Amino acid sequence: MPTIPDLTPSNLLPRIRTSFIGRTLLSEVELPSTNITAAELATANAPEGLVVVADHQTAGRGRNGRSWLSPPNKNLYFSILLRPDCPPASVPQLAIIAALSIAKALDMPNIAVKWPNDVWMNGRKLCGILSSMSCLANKTEYAVIGIGINVNMRDFPAEIPGTSLALETGRELSRAEVLASVLNVIEEDYILWCREQSLSPFMERWAKCSLLDGHTITAEHGRDILMGTASGITPEGLLILKCHDGATRLIAAGDTHIAL
Ligand code: BTN
Repeated sequence: MPTIPDLTPSNLLPRIRTSFIGRTLLSEVELPSTNITAAELATANAPEGLVVVADHQTAGRGRNGRSWLSPPNKNLYFSILLRPDCPPASVPQLAIIAALSIAKALDMPNIAVKWPNDVWMNGRKLCGILSSMSCLANKTEYAVIGIGINVNMRDFPAEIPGTSLALETGRELSRAEVLASVLNVIEEDYILWCREQSLSPFMERWAKCSLLDGHTITAEHGRDILMGTASGITPEGLLILKCHDGATRLIAAGDTHIAL
């Protein structure tokens, strides 16, 4: 079976210092979507911490039904299977944790997290996160956290205002190094989150690198588009929007944009 030369288990595992995340690794040249494969393996009893990584995706999925550009030999596309012992309503917090972990792992100037769970650099989107989950009654069976990080891609179609680590730093990066450092931080953060069952221990980190805080933004709220000042997040991961009519609203999901 063909493998991805720079993302084989033998290349990755020596760089990983986790106890379970990435210890089971499926590395494929081409998949429709790593999220789909991870969910299929989850239902076949794959262990917590499974990572599915692909060199390219033929049907990469983005949030809100969008697609995710996934060309070969350039970027990182991977999904992590988690089995948190938490109510289903808490699972969206994991994507916020992942964004914070990625920002910390990349450890570069001008990295920001953008609610709900993007990572931006110098005003452009660097990374997207798409999570899915399965629950039975009020119990979470599993969560899949799918992450796309633009690493060495330099040509973006005009309609995609994205960027990559190569464009921002002027040099090519090792995908294995980036993936390993992200998995290392995600495991630490995930363990802390499982213990606290809340984003409380992460609020300071969020405030330090939040792209939206203090800005006038628009946010989707059901069918409405609200305008107000982004004023942080709650320990449950809701966006706090101080609206211009004086009311404070909590937003659970949706796209956000800085208003010009
Ligand atoms: C977004 O729209 O911002 C989320 C993009 C998430 C893309 C990643 S790439 C790996 C995983 N597999 C997918 O099909 N999507 C996620």
